[in-house]
Amino acid sequence: MRIDILTLFPKIFEGFLNESILGRAIKNEIIKVNLIDFREFSKSKHKKVDDSPYGGGAGMVLGVQSVYDALISIDGYEKANKILLTPQGKKFEQNMAYKLSNKDHIIILCGHYEGYDERIRDLFDCETSIGDFVLTGGEIAAMVMVDAITRVIPGVISKDESHLNDSFSQNLLEHPHYTRPAEFMDKKVPEVLMNGNHKLIKEWRLNESIKRTKERRNDLYIKYLKEQNNE
Ligand code: ADE
Repeated sequence: MRIDILTLFPKIFEGFLNESILGRAIKNEIIKVNLIDFREFSKSKHKKVDDSPYGGGAGMVLGVQSVYDALISIDGYEKANKILLTPQGKKFEQNMAYKLSNKDHIIILCGHYEGYDERIRDLFDCETSIGDFVLTGGEIAAMVMVDAITRVIPGVISKDESHLNDSFSQNLLEHPHYTRPAEFMDKKVPEVLMNGNHKLIKEWRLNESIKRTKERRNDLYIKYLKEQNNE
């Protein structure tokens, strides 16, 4: 998969793309991430990319010219999945990570300033938000998306199946986990996990997942019940 990120701050991505699972996925050529500083495409004298809003008001607006020129410089941009990051977008969730993990080419625009010139929006296929809060720019949102998408691409996480039990993948939060020691400050690991009966362990884990989801995320629990009843 190829991911092109349009940003004014490519350096923000350095550590993120070089370490851990992401670093490995890039090294193994499962994903290729290209950072494009769209300031370089500005035609203004001082490489300006923003300007004051028509009609007046506070803040600066990101202009369309440099974004457009940067976008059309990307090989195959017409066919790519073009995502504009904004708190006004559709909320990014696990199912979107799965869907995007099947794409060959994604382009992500990280915004800054008060907002986008409205004509930038027309250049993109969808608008995405990572939650109901406002960040100083789209870079962290882009990293969140790239991370969530990459880890569900087959072959990225060593045990191919391990993300299938993730929280959210079946509208359930994950069950509790334990590792050694068997007892810590009077707190014992549940007996059922120690007896090697895989059928009982599976049942216990599912029940704990359901219990936890009901307690913490009733919205997800309702989705889970609907799915179980094929509604
Ligand atoms: N840019 C600023 N805030 C954002 C958010 N919540 N999601 C995506 N992009 C953003």
